[in-house]
Amino acid sequence: MSMNKDKDYGTPAKSATTEVTLEIDGFKVTAPAGTSIMRAAASIGIDIPKLCATDSIEPFGSCRLCLVQIEGGRGMPASCTTPVAEGLKVTTQNPRLAEVRRGIMELYISDHPLDCLTCSANGDCELQDMAGAVGLREVRYQPVHTHLDATKDESNPYFSFDPSKCIVCSRCVRACEETQGTFALTIDGRGFDSKVSPSQNEAFMDSECVSCGACVQACPTATLMEKSVIDNGQPEHAIITTCAYCGVGCSFRAEMKGEQVIRMVPNKDGKANHGHSCVKGRFAFGYATHKDRITKPMIRKSIKDAWQEVSWEEAITYAASELKRLQTKYGKDSIGGITSSRCTNEETYLVQKLIRAGFGNNNVDTCARVCHSPTGYGLKQTFGESSGTQDFDSVMHADVIMIIGANPTDGHPVFGSQMKKRLRQGAKLIVVDPREIDLVKNSPHITANHHLKLRPSTNVALINALAHVVITEQLTDEAFINARCDVASFTKWKTFIADPRHAPEATESITGVAAEEIRAAARLYATAANGAIYYGLGVTEHSQGSTMVIGIANLAMATGNLGRVGVGVNPLRGQNNVQGSCDMGSFPHEFPGYRHVSDPTTHALFESAWKVPLSAEPGLRIPNMFESALDSSFMGLYVEGEDIAQSDPDIHHVHAALRAMECVIVQDIFLNETAKFAHVFLPGASFLEKDGTFTNAERRISPVRKVMRPLAGYQDWEVTQLLSNAMGYPMDYRHPSEIMDEIAALTPSFAGVSFAKLDQQGSIQWPCNDDTPSGTPIMHTETFMRDNGKGLFMLTDYIPTQERITPMFPLILTTGRILSQYNVGAQTRRTENNAWHNEDRLEIHPADAEDRGINNDDWVGIKSRAGETVLRATLTERVQPGVVYTTFHFPESGANVITTDNSDWATNCPEYKVTAVQITKVNQTSQWQQDYTAFSQEQMALLEQGING
Ligand code: SF4
Ligand code: SF4
Ligand code: SF4
Ligand code: FES
Repeated sequence: MSMNKDKDYGTPAKSATTEVTLEIDGFKVTAPAGTSIMRAAASIGIDIPKLCATDSIEPFGSCRLCLVQIEGGRGMPASCTTPVAEGLKVTTQNPRLAEVRRGIMELYISDHPLDCLTCSANGDCELQDMAGAVGLREVRYQPVHTHLDATKDESNPYFSFDPSKCIVCSRCVRACEETQGTFALTIDGRGFDSKVSPSQNEAFMDSECVSCGACVQACPTATLMEKSVIDNGQPEHAIITTCAYCGVGCSFRAEMKGEQVIRMVPNKDGKANHGHSCVKGRFAFGYATHKDRITKPMIRKSIKDAWQEVSWEEAITYAASELKRLQTKYGKDSIGGITSSRCTNEETYLVQKLIRAGFGNNNVDTCARVCHSPTGYGLKQTFGESSGTQDFDSVMHADVIMIIGANPTDGHPVFGSQMKKRLRQGAKLIVVDPREIDLVKNSPHITANHHLKLRPSTNVALINALAHVVITEQLTDEAFINARCDVASFTKWKTFIADPRHAPEATESITGVAAEEIRAAARLYATAANGAIYYGLGVTEHSQGSTMVIGIANLAMATGNLGRVGVGVNPLRGQNNVQGSCDMGSFPHEFPGYRHVSDPTTHALFESAWKVPLSAEPGLRIPNMFESALDSSFMGLYVEGEDIAQSDPDIHHVHAALRAMECVIVQDIFLNETAKFAHVFLPGASFLEKDGTFTNAERRISPVRKVMRPLAGYQDWEVTQLLSNAMGYPMDYRHPSEIMDEIAALTPSFAGVSFAKLDQQGSIQWPCNDDTPSGTPIMHTETFMRDNGKGLFMLTDYIPTQERITPMFPLILTTGRILSQYNVGAQTRRTENNAWHNEDRLEIHPADAEDRGINNDDWVGIKSRAGETVLRATLTERVQPGVVYTTFHFPESGANVITTDNSDWATNCPEYKVTAVQITKVNQTSQWQQDYTAFSQEQMALLEQGING
């Protein structure tokens, strides 16, 4: 372990097919055309001095430190902006160049504080390095004016801006533009007076800055610096791991001092993020060592009792004896478990194995039930594999991007930045969303060509209308359909979709979107050389979630937008390992690799590997577990890393079910909302404390590596293993790599995956087996994964949701995410990210607000058929009249008090996105909120009593 910093080649790599050969300091070097001389030199170990260039952004040519001489050429061109050419003879070092470079450095240093020894960047400063590199020994100038007294901007909680150290290289400005796409920074003034500032001379926190850290990363001096480095000093070793927040799965270098994380730096070689990050992965890691972490196992008889801290052995023995007692009393099927999309593949695999082999039933489900289960169903039916079709980089080849029910700049920010880059290059954009997401017109230099601002719940009518235009205007790709799809299913679908009831003119009154707008959007997508669809929970979390996924698949197949780079159907997965938790067999009807529990071959395979008889009956889904708890047939639950008491819909019902169970075992890092209903608490480990893998939205399996010892002594897989042994089903893994070896041996799409290969390749996109030993960036390139290899068209009748608006509930509530917080907020609420978002707000259109006498910041009651809660109002035209919107990051907001128990017909995924509500001005919190506060306080007191005896 050492710091081994990533090499900086000075300018980005070029991928031209033609190569040129030149000579640099007498050495021959070959590079793709368009490569800078600086990069070509660096590739053979000749590092030309530089300041304003770095390889994450295009060169700018301002510092002049990198000048070189070219035989037969005039002057001294900057090597960062001069491309290689055949036969050039370049000299990078000679006395003349050295003298000019020293002169340049002398000017920089004369206006720079000489406090290197006490500077936070000491040892990690390119200015310092360059002074050394050019051999600067004295500074002769005494400038009359300097910037040494410029005031620091400390407004951002994670980094500081000290303009006295700025060399105006503009790396930060370019990083904010090119990498992040926010354009928050400018260089004001000219010559000596020029300086960097956020927006119009604002503080960082008052500007558009989203705290992604790209500028801090790019800054060669201590001007932009992580406060954690200022406070703790430079890190001394680094370990590559993967962000544990969202489904982008960014790769990071955890830069450490002993077991303390000093900073998380995005990994340049990370294939999902290419060195970029967002505020969560980059800065919001402090939760891992937050004082709220529970590090001792605890038990109690009833949720009215104080918690009692016990040894691991006692907690595990108690948990196992309770589970066995319940099985004796209520039957084998009376217990089950819930796996987590926050945990690693290996941990998830082990939990489902414990349930199937140790509990002897298939009562295992996962939080993916409540987000992307319709994706699994819809894509499996049509394409034969229930995952996204592309890698993220594919978007750089898309000509038309259609985003449906997703908000990438908030929900999947690093991919959002990549998408913005492609849009700034000229790709066209269609946004299908009831709300105006930032990409519609609030991102610099991007405007959606079409925003189909549909009414919530009318997705299927809209996708049918788009498909109708494609069919009736002959915009289909017949060659693709004939070669790649099940033609009989296409013919049937074609007749169905051509029916005038699907015409945009007929659906206009349903969707609220003008027919002409739909026609234009359909034409744009269908005629694109490459059309790519990205979608999110705005597609899946509906009563027709699966139908909509199928509708999207139909549209992509009909237009031939599958099976190559730049196209595809791409679900933007929410949590870090939601893809993995589904792959690992977390569903009650499927073994790992999406094979039905009743399939005789698979069943026999797992029985022989696990050496125990297994049930061939699908087990209970989460909603069925709750129902069964209420009728006393499901009495014990093992929940790992999942907060169902906050995240599942219709919370009254969930809480009642949890209260009805006799043994709830929660394994988590905090006493979360579910743990307030628990009888056994097993302390979990954060991603920093464990080894394993996560699988992101592009099927990319990436390593998670332990950077500190588990605070409670065990990694989560070890706890599951202890519980399994105590239940009488033996497990004896010594390392998660052995669990992965078992997964690979039993799962064809993972057959070639191993920790050794991950170490070698960095990451692997499944399927990975003998046919594709390095993994599969793009799916379905030759054939679809269905048994006959053909894509299947399916009929998608639009059926209105039962959740109707009425005079009592005249508005539709829909929900979404915000960049700075994450899901139920258990992690981000315990970080400085609260500086951006410290409460959930209700967005309401000014017209609806006026009708109700509501002003900005007023407290408003939100009442649905399921319950009532109170939030403060934000008036905005981002939502359309008749629609209100909120995020759901704070438990006291009670967003799920009002969501109903409607769900997707195929998968039970809850209809979070559509709740009919009434909004009224109020002056106190709701009864539920008051009850919740009282219950929460009582539980915290029971925790205190336990900890303090
Ligand atoms: S942190 Fe990100 S958004 Fe903010 S100024 Fe820096 S690059 Fe721009
Ligand atoms: S803040 Fe850093 S990156 Fe930006 S111009 Fe100044 S020295 Fe360069
Ligand atoms: S985009 Fe997602 S994976 Fe990447 S740093 Fe942000 S939260 Fe982590
Ligand atoms: S590094 Fe080339 S001009 Fe600055």
